[in-house]
Amino acid sequence: MADDDFPGAQPFVPASATIDGLRAAARDCRGCHLYENATQTVFSSGSATARVVLVGEQPGDQEDRRGEPFVGPAGALLDRALDDAGIDRKLAYVTNAVKHFKFSQAGEGKRRIHQKPDQREVNACRPWLTAELEILDPDVIVALGATAGQSLMGRDFRVTRSRGVLIEWPPREGEPLAKASRFLLATIHPSAVLRADDRETAYAGLVDDLKVAAQVLA
Ligand code: URA
Ligand code: SF4
Repeated sequence: MADDDFPGAQPFVPASATIDGLRAAARDCRGCHLYENATQTVFSSGSATARVVLVGEQPGDQEDRRGEPFVGPAGALLDRALDDAGIDRKLAYVTNAVKHFKFSQAGEGKRRIHQKPDQREVNACRPWLTAELEILDPDVIVALGATAGQSLMGRDFRVTRSRGVLIEWPPREGEPLAKASRFLLATIHPSAVLRADDRETAYAGLVDDLKVAAQVLA
């Protein structure tokens, strides 16, 4: 459910639309409070005929300014990992569980610090992700990190327990996916690699997981 004061994204999602139609409608989403301080909605990038959909957490500082997902440091690492796993990013569709940047700021002119979206915000924004997946009907969905994993699989889902294996993509109870996609693969978030003490091992793990997703596309 959404906040008491906000309806969640569902009322803003057009009933039948293309990806571009969703993107246009999402610019005016007021489904939760996160639109208030962010610069703009960061919807997605990539082809509407993509067979692989990558789902991150939420836009970061640079994504918020530029209006595109994964264009900052995490995006650069993701690009490299996709390349090393044999997945062409140009053939992927990239989106986030939450479409507005959530941050804290100590004062005027201070750096904006990423804040993890909470369960209510993830739930509020999920109708966009559900609508995207219904239209795209990809062969494999890659959940990057816990927020994406829980948005897609429910709050009990643990990436650490389930990463790197193909999971049959189940239609969510109460939220039927008209055309269910076949697989979901969960892995760590690229930002977790950037934060890791042993970056090299963390990066290799991300690439290994992505290679499992690449097998579906082969
Ligand atoms: N991290 C994410 O989860 N998504 C982005 O778009 C950028 C950074
Ligand atoms: Fe709408 Fe999602 Fe932005 Fe909240 S975060 S206002 S639900 S697009």
